Amino acid sequence: MSLRIQAIRGMRDILPDATARWQQLEAVLRDTLTAYGYGEIRLPILERTELFSRSVGEQTDIVEKEMYTFEDRGGESITLRPEGTAGCVRAALENGLLHNQRQRLWYLGPMFRYEKPQAGRYRQFSQVGAEALGFEGPDVDLELLLVCRRLWQALGITNLRLDLNSLGTQAARAVYREKLIAYLSERRDELDEESVRRLEGNPLRILDSKNPAMQALIAGAPAITDFLDDESAAHFAALRAGLDAAGVAYRVNPRLVRGLDYYSRTTFEWITDALGAQGAVCAGGRYDGLVELIGGRPAPAVGWAMGLDRAAALMEQGAVRAPSTTPQVYLVMVGEAAERAGPILAEQLRDALPGLRLTVHCGGGGFKAQFKAADRSGAALALILGDQEVAAQRAGVKALRDESAQRDVPWDELPEVIRPVTS
Ligand code: HAM
Repeated sequence: MSLRIQAIRGMRDILPDATARWQQLEAVLRDTLTAYGYGEIRLPILERTELFSRSVGEQTDIVEKEMYTFEDRGGESITLRPEGTAGCVRAALENGLLHNQRQRLWYLGPMFRYEKPQAGRYRQFSQVGAEALGFEGPDVDLELLLVCRRLWQALGITNLRLDLNSLGTQAARAVYREKLIAYLSERRDELDEESVRRLEGNPLRILDSKNPAMQALIAGAPAITDFLDDESAAHFAALRAGLDAAGVAYRVNPRLVRGLDYYSRTTFEWITDALGAQGAVCAGGRYDGLVELIGGRPAPAVGWAMGLDRAAALMEQGAVRAPSTTPQVYLVMVGEAAERAGPILAEQLRDALPGLRLTVHCGGGGFKAQFKAADRSGAALALILGDQEVAAQRAGVKALRDESAQRDVPWDELPEVIRPVTS
């Protein structure tokens, strides 16, 4: 016997037991985003590698070490998308969606990052993203955060906190960057290896370091919020005022720099303590320079992406129940006439009771074996057809979850008898 082939590390199967939860999550996301005026865009999973190196940034973890990049048969460098924003902006430009227009868009699907797999962190994971292209904000920044709050309520996800920051314009960030490099260079011998490497290329990322030995140094570093240009400061103040007025709690965290280079001004993360080390459930911010970077006329933009694997895990801990997929009725048939009539009767019941979860026994077997299968299915009712019942156009109806006696019901009365177990 040959060895069984297994899934790739960090990539998992989501089985029928769990997909009901995912479908519920996706339905809430779709309905809520639609209600706020966001239109769905479906994007390719593969993009040219350059799209990500240019937008996410050459010196980021994602581009340096996490992308699934390969040459296709034509010799072109292709990458499995590690995130959705770059592709969304590319698609909007390529399809002329930004010609004197603004767009509210959303997308959902798998993303790929070659990270070290652990609970809540996968190499293939799913995101839903919402992007508002062409909007200056801060009104739309606020809107995007209000969408999130509504989603948490609808999904039964509690105990998230919102961290908020502003990185200012690219120019203000450049000034801050120099100040930070100066501060860190003076303390070079306190930096860990990774941070020394980042010092010149991407010093802001050092603020994100989780190394406990670095925390005091990071706490003493100059704060980006002290370097904001006037316009960014006013933008940030207006967003905070909007959140206050709407009753959304948040914490200003000047260390929240995010791991992708395209951000400017607003950045935020919704964080949980309930999933161990992987705290960020939804994250995003403003990326006013990205449209231009990808070759479009300059246009401001802001958005977020939610990790669905993490959101689904939090829903499991919450109070909203997953919709049941257990069959309501199981049809047992023994005898040739019954096996012929059964599937037809089942179709009639499905016509009469749309949405009825009815499993028709397949694979034959005696009454006993079929009853066992009916019981295991979790159905509330078994319908029983033997050749005698078929001749009389009747069926036995047996409750599987209580002791009530089996009843003998004419076919045309079956919908009314079944209806109570369908609600
Ligand atoms: P990100 O912070 O890299 O941002 O990812 C957003 C979310 O995706 C994270 O907060 C997390 O929930 C989930 N996520 C990321 N990596 C993994 C992983 N390996 N396993 C499971 N979940 C993961 C972005 O991707 C930006 N495109 C967000 C954005 C949209 N900014 C503006 N618009």
